[in-house]
Amino acid sequence: MSYRCRKAMPALLLAFAFIMDAGAAYSQPAQTDDTLYRQINARIKQMTLEEKVGMLHANSSFTSGGISRLGIPELTMSDGPHGVRMEHGRDWRTDNDHVDDSATYLPTGVCLASTWNPALGYAYGAVLGSEANARGKDVILGPGINIIRSPLNGRNFEYQSEDPYLVSRMAVGYIKGVQDQDVSACVKHFLANNQETERGRVNVIMSERALREIYLPGFKAAVTEGGVYSVMGAYNKFRGEWCTENRYLVNDILKGEFKFKGLLMSDWGAVHNTQEALWNGTDLEMGTDLMGRAYDKFFLGDTVISLVRKGMIDEKLVDEKVRRILYVMYRIHKFGGRKPGAFSTKDHFATARKVAEEGIVLLKNDHLLPLKASDIKKLAVIGANAVRLQSEGGGSSQVRTRYEITLLDGLKNLAGNAVDISYSPGYAIVKNAGIDQELIDSAVAAARRADVVVFAGGWTHGYNNYSWTDNAFDAEGTDKPDMTLPFGQDQLIAAVLKANPRTVVVMMGGGPVDMTAWVEKAPAVIQAWYPGSEGGNALAEILFGVVNPSGKLPMTFPRRLAESPAHALGQFPGDSVNVHYTDDIFVGYRYFDTWKIRPQFAFGHGLSYTTFGYSDMQVTAGKQGATVGVTVSNTGRVAGAEVVQVYVKENVSELRRPEKELKGFVKVFLRPGESRKVTISLNRQSFEYYNDLKNRWVLEPGAFTILCGSASDDIRITKVVRIN
Ligand code: BGC
Repeated sequence: MSYRCRKAMPALLLAFAFIMDAGAAYSQPAQTDDTLYRQINARIKQMTLEEKVGMLHANSSFTSGGISRLGIPELTMSDGPHGVRMEHGRDWRTDNDHVDDSATYLPTGVCLASTWNPALGYAYGAVLGSEANARGKDVILGPGINIIRSPLNGRNFEYQSEDPYLVSRMAVGYIKGVQDQDVSACVKHFLANNQETERGRVNVIMSERALREIYLPGFKAAVTEGGVYSVMGAYNKFRGEWCTENRYLVNDILKGEFKFKGLLMSDWGAVHNTQEALWNGTDLEMGTDLMGRAYDKFFLGDTVISLVRKGMIDEKLVDEKVRRILYVMYRIHKFGGRKPGAFSTKDHFATARKVAEEGIVLLKNDHLLPLKASDIKKLAVIGANAVRLQSEGGGSSQVRTRYEITLLDGLKNLAGNAVDISYSPGYAIVKNAGIDQELIDSAVAAARRADVVVFAGGWTHGYNNYSWTDNAFDAEGTDKPDMTLPFGQDQLIAAVLKANPRTVVVMMGGGPVDMTAWVEKAPAVIQAWYPGSEGGNALAEILFGVVNPSGKLPMTFPRRLAESPAHALGQFPGDSVNVHYTDDIFVGYRYFDTWKIRPQFAFGHGLSYTTFGYSDMQVTAGKQGATVGVTVSNTGRVAGAEVVQVYVKENVSELRRPEKELKGFVKVFLRPGESRKVTISLNRQSFEYYNDLKNRWVLEPGAFTILCGSASDDIRITKVVRIN
């Protein structure tokens, strides 16, 4: 929670109180799996083969079949992951009958991860779950937790982090928040959908170690700690087999090792073969393009019936899939006793604001921020993203929202009475547009007249919100061409900084841009992501110091694209047939730290308007791992929050390990002058790595360094311990 003036606190507390209350009225004794399976098996016994198979595939764009004769309803789904998607009707046509489907547009996944606050993950999930429930949805298609491997992935804005530990902590909160509202979360996209280029074709090849250490842990935590009820298989192939029909990933790991009890659905159109899907763990087929044919022509439709009739497939395999679908229905109380949801409430928007306040990251500040209204007569707002509505863009994650406060709105709301605020676009979000000298000239003139400039640019969801791939940047189905700012923004920012050095650069988007053309000259830089319905208000509060920023980068911002590991060591996006992850486990800071390459802004970096001191670090090590204690003090003049980050380094290892790895963190809120001792537990897994010579996790007894600090490049205290 970032510190803001007391006035915002009651709103958040109310939000939590509401969630708790709604839960209390409907809380019922949790049923054991055994009890559920007895009821489920009794239902399955009543079904004909045709009825069972009808449940294994879609019967409209976002529902799968029910059995009305037996009182089994359809299962209804919606995207996800940062708001309940607008209705698209049963046949994919935007449903204009539902003009009342305007949801809360939460800051996107990457902004949530930047809060480093799992309690907010829960609050965020609870909003989604409650809204999905109120809209009659059973499954919300989120969270999206694919690892941010390259800055170019068009869907990074929906995802969370380059670091599996951070992903795990945020995903578990999110999932519990959703599912406590009697709605199933659906963690996606399982697995290695780390690029959009050729996502429906490409075969991902990675080592077992990269799989175990980097790409699986988020999914494992979602299942084993979050108890997620649904998982969505990815479009791509993994080691030669489609992910959704992948025996190793689905049967052996997800359902075997992780003991996942819920349903594995396909991404929309990710099933390719009836038998592979039947054998290899697909429970529900969604979104296959039938080109006008009936839904029972899906791979898991009529063909299954004839295979069973011919004796080529055992009906028990079908029963097992139905059992999993019914399990999810029972767990969300589909057959009675379901909590009521709530839609687009004040409290939900308050949570959206809170997440934005804590997720926006102050990257650089040479004494320009916070702004003081009394010192400013004229404020020039420049840049098309200051007025751009982002909620409906990006692809399947689009949200029709009741309202979206832009940065310009937010500044006017907060300081409009005291400060003369002007706006000039500076650039136009127009297909193939380069530098527009006229727009630059008038922006420069506005900058000269102003005491302070706030520039808002970066990525957008593309030229046309509804055309995902047309000149799109942060969008499904496409990756960014490079890290260079589009629409002539580099030239614009340089010109504005020259005209008025008191310029704050606010970047929006799902990830980094190459800032090398102007970052040295910019006194203040903020990463705002896509901050949701209340984003403009949150940004204005941060600019004026009403809120003290506390967001930390969940991914490394490289200076140049070529310096990021997927591009320097690995392949991106591959040759359209295969992509080899030869960057292996060296994703994000694991690479920058180990190769000693200085990024533009490091993983975990994020400034505050106050300062924090670290002292008295103690580590006690035992058989179960170690406990780290450290005292954190607010040594500045305003209240603020610090994310204490704990990294582990193995001093000598058999196989090469990253320089250090995040294994714990905690966000602490401190008044000026206040100190607090925080404790972070590290279990045995915190010290292990996957040794692919031995094909198992190993803990090598010996010396480990525990590093404690404010960012991956700002370690304040270290201690060496022996772990046996
Ligand atoms: C996306 C999924 C989404 C699904 C349904 C697919 O294209 O990859 O993330 O949930 O569509 O809209």
